Amino acid sequence: RSLLQTQLRGDQVIVVSNREPYIHEMRDAQVVVDRPASGLVTAVEPIMRACSGTWIAHGSGSADRQVVDRHDRVGLPPGQGDYQLRRIWLTPEQEQGYYYGFANEGLWPLCHVAHVRPVFRATDWERYVEVNQLFADAVVAEARSEDPVVLVQDYHFALLPAMVRKRLPRATILMFWHIPWPNPESFGICPWRDQILEGMLGSTIVGFHTRFHGKNFIETVDRHLEARIEHEHSTVTYGGRPTLVESYPISIEWPTPEETRTWPSPSQCRAETCARLGIPQGHQLVVGVDRFDYTKGILERLNAIERLMEKYPAVRDRFTFVQVAAPTRAALDEYRAFRRRIEETAERINQRFPRAEGAVVRLLATHHGHEAVMRLYRAADVCMVTSLHDGMNLVCKEFVAARDDLRGVLVLSRFAGAAREMPEALIVNPYDVEEVADAVMVGLDMPGAEQRERMANLRSTVRENNVFRWAGRMLTDAARLRLRQRVSERV
Ligand code: G6P
Repeated sequence: RSLLQTQLRGDQVIVVSNREPYIHEMRDAQVVVDRPASGLVTAVEPIMRACSGTWIAHGSGSADRQVVDRHDRVGLPPGQGDYQLRRIWLTPEQEQGYYYGFANEGLWPLCHVAHVRPVFRATDWERYVEVNQLFADAVVAEARSEDPVVLVQDYHFALLPAMVRKRLPRATILMFWHIPWPNPESFGICPWRDQILEGMLGSTIVGFHTRFHGKNFIETVDRHLEARIEHEHSTVTYGGRPTLVESYPISIEWPTPEETRTWPSPSQCRAETCARLGIPQGHQLVVGVDRFDYTKGILERLNAIERLMEKYPAVRDRFTFVQVAAPTRAALDEYRAFRRRIEETAERINQRFPRAEGAVVRLLATHHGHEAVMRLYRAADVCMVTSLHDGMNLVCKEFVAARDDLRGVLVLSRFAGAAREMPEALIVNPYDVEEVADAVMVGLDMPGAEQRERMANLRSTVRENNVFRWAGRMLTDAARLRLRQRVSERV
């Protein structure tokens, strides 16, 4: 944290993201502050608590508008930090075209290779451009100097860096792309390919989770724009301005000793979870925690659970699979159809393997807060993260952070960015149902000593490469480039 503050030396920080970091809701005549289920918020929020500044976000539908209006432009609840939140309100047409349409039916499937076809509509694109301009105007309005540090989050704002650059040419603009970047051929099908690349190249730095995604981005620029690429410096020069393209693996805030002291013991967590869900106390628990999204491999995971029971009949009465699936983007057909398919598959598996002790698959399709999820992680024998494609994935890092008892086995998709940092997990191809079923079996039978060894290594990796290091590395690069700019302006 102090490194971040040193890097910034009083510079103003403005964050732009679609998702708001907290939600104000009215419950039983009381205003309740809650956190949305979002990997992005999990990662960026601690950084803002450390740096202060202003966070500009879409006042999304999850919040109660009337309550939020009163809490617009306020700081965090006392004791939680001192940054300001500025909400941008969108019309239903803007939200539909920009967020549901272009961002989530276009760019999301385009960048995640999960075999869902992207949809490109000209009207969605128009709303996307309009909303990017709205947020860019808000950045300019918030800027107290001509060179603020602007942290632009994700695929909702590909055009914003160039829009801000036009008005604040000396700003330091860091764009972080939280999802994968595909190869040039795949990206090339987007009708507004060049505008998106040009928009992003307004940034001082474009960051990805992995080198591989950065390389794909540089190759896409090389293929489609007249730009100069310096591979050895990972720099793209377009329109006379350089942009550094780097990888910064995102992470979580490592829990403090004060926090972990308040955690219930793993056996308490297990007893509570079993009692709450009517699971026999002696059962082993396999858990999954995701948004209800087709990129997360929830269907493949269920198929693997089914295969596990076919292949290893002795395990059938020994474990229960608990899947938390937080509702997300439910206004889109693709997401509603996906949810139905998962519910039907879970039902089918439960009917195929009826058990006196209750269903083998428990699907909990509601939002679970941080505390509830942490208890589930601590109760688990095996945690499954089987994304078909994922920029990073923070569930696996949160699972590891929750296991200070050094127990629990992580089954992790090779197609999640996190797999590159977490080789002590059981790494699987989520499309290979045999391999995943076998990995879960290995996890259920893994001796305690091996669990401890693997978990200790995973924990030291995540503890060290925590989210402050992610932001610190990006801001160190930004500080270097700011200095270079100041020096070059002097000569
Ligand atoms: C995940 C992705 C982020 C993305 C977010 C959007 O967390 O990793 O890259 O910004 O989903 O989710 P939302 O619910 O806000 O559409």
